[in-house]
Amino acid sequence: MTIEAVSPAMTMRDAAAALLAHGNVPGPHVDTDEVARIDRMIARHRLTLDEKLTAAKRQYSAEHYARTTALLPAELISELRAEARRLADLNTRRIDITVPVTGDTPRRLGSLPNSLFQEQSKLFTALYNSVEFRSVLSTVVGTPVLDASFEDEKITGTHQSRVGDTHGWHWGDHEFAFIFIAEAPSIEHGGMLQAVPHTVWDKKNPAVHENLAGGTIRTYHHEAGESYVFKTDTTLHRTVPIQTEGVERIIVNLTLASLKDWLEEKSYETTNAVYTD
Ligand SMILES: [Fe+2]
Repeated sequence: MTIEAVSPAMTMRDAAAALLAHGNVPGPHVDTDEVARIDRMIARHRLTLDEKLTAAKRQYSAEHYARTTALLPAELISELRAEARRLADLNTRRIDITVPVTGDTPRRLGSLPNSLFQEQSKLFTALYNSVEFRSVLSTVVGTPVLDASFEDEKITGTHQSRVGDTHGWHWGDHEFAFIFIAEAPSIEHGGMLQAVPHTVWDKKNPAVHENLAGGTIRTYHHEAGESYVFKTDTTLHRTVPIQTEGVERIIVNLTLASLKDWLEEKSYETTNAVYTD
């Protein structure tokens, strides 16, 4: 095709398609056969999803959160649960800190760094780069999703297993996070997600209490095997502290960027504090 044959609108469309393709670059640790297998599983499942996708889109539009449990095939969910369990058992890293850029809120939990996923994960790393998975998420959030702009933030996990373990109030550095819940306590033991959408993160003055007072806190309980996608950059969120000895919560967080995320100059204080040494 010559340049003359391409209308300005077509050129922009080609550029947008190229951008999307460049926004999904599997690292050398990613098993491309596994990506293809997950693509096939999700593509098959998607044929059954019409109303469920519409419901998820509607929920995301209203809450900047959508439960995505029904959007993944059951056999993939059980495989992901098993891999998360194995990785959480391998992980020995625990933190007990407060983070200044989120108003000194606490992080008390086992933190699974991106490096652990690069070295030990087959499934989550493949899911991250699955075109079909990204297509489902993009449909829910209404805009393309791209690789996170900070490698250490792409895939992380948390393991909460002690009384008082919590991921305190914070925002995310990227627009989107998909959270897979591998293990979760029943609601009376804590561990639920709480979220205040439509809030603004000023790192110099996070004003967490003011944002809580000025917004609406929604509380979401998830069973093991559930998942959700949400808008982390403008949603203040936390997990309710674990209240009972002997229960645990294990999640894996896939972070994805919007075009806006790639155009901004960012800093990553929170990820550096929680997931890197
Ligand atoms: Fe978060």
